[in-house]
Amino acid sequence: MEKKNILTGIRPTGKLHLGHYFGAVCNWVKLQEEYHSFFEIADVQALTDNFNNPEKVRTNVREVTIDLLSLGIDPLKSTIFVQSTIPEIAELTVYYSNLVTMARLYRNPTVKTEIKQKKALFGDTGESVTYGFVGYPVSQAADITAFEGACVPVGEDQLPLIEQTREIVHKFNSIYGETLILPEPVLSENKRIKGLDGNEKMGKSLGNAIYLADSKEEIEKKIMGAVTDTKKIRKDDPANPEVCMVYYYHKLIGNSNLETVCKECKNGSRGCVACKKELVEVMMNFLKPISEKRHYYEEHPEIVDKILIEGSKYAREKAKTTMKKVRKNMRIDYFDEEI
Ligand code: TRP
Repeated sequence: MEKKNILTGIRPTGKLHLGHYFGAVCNWVKLQEEYHSFFEIADVQALTDNFNNPEKVRTNVREVTIDLLSLGIDPLKSTIFVQSTIPEIAELTVYYSNLVTMARLYRNPTVKTEIKQKKALFGDTGESVTYGFVGYPVSQAADITAFEGACVPVGEDQLPLIEQTREIVHKFNSIYGETLILPEPVLSENKRIKGLDGNEKMGKSLGNAIYLADSKEEIEKKIMGAVTDTKKIRKDDPANPEVCMVYYYHKLIGNSNLETVCKECKNGSRGCVACKKELVEVMMNFLKPISEKRHYYEEHPEIVDKILIEGSKYAREKAKTTMKKVRKNMRIDYFDEEI
């Protein structure tokens, strides 16, 4: 049987952190074994709210690619490509935009939350919200359908976008005939990763992220400042590991000494400083193979570029095939000859 396609995307707005890895990418690494996989570096989508900062998006296209490669996305098994190299995505976006009402776009819960955040951030009335921004779910529908993505691995926050894609697919197919593949979301097992500061989410904007590219000093600083059981005052007070972020990370990273950590924390024989120092070691061991790969790719930018060029060429062929079907069924395939 032919493998199904998966398509997912990531906005190149910053280097990847542990939240990205445990929340999404570790799942992608597994999925690439079973599926024909496309990983999109969504620079066009990143520009919807970074249009005035193109340099940031440009730099992070390569940074994010290096992170994905270092985490185990294998260019021999998967396709990594850059969204803006595929004009068919922009073309599909235009045709799909006829199939979505403005009211429906404003009702999209993900977009709604993001608009609210913008209003809070800029203190405006929402008047700076652009057409491109409100419309990005339409462009995301084009991302998914251009590559016949049957499965879309995403976090919970993205479910309304996949739902919107499904509506567009239904509408397109009902008007123009069976053309597009209906995608299904695949939720990652690990949802949100908490921050060392106790925040429910690790995030760049929250300032609580551990980056794959962090140095030992940066990691030390972050871990030493982590939130522990606030009821523990003295070094030998017994404490509750379940409310301690250091314990949460020992568990997340997979410390083989976890039972001892738990026992000693509970009976008061382990001080928080020692426990944090152990976590620094465990974390450095975990990150070591990743940062070694990172350094390799940093020193060989030509290899990174080659992977992106080859991936984008392959992805473009796929998108062209979809585009042909779309044009034919939309009755805009006027000439056999390519223009
Ligand atoms: N919107 C996604 C995010 O912010 C990124 C993305 C772009 C995406 N295109 C996609 C996700 C297509 C899934 C499918 O994380």
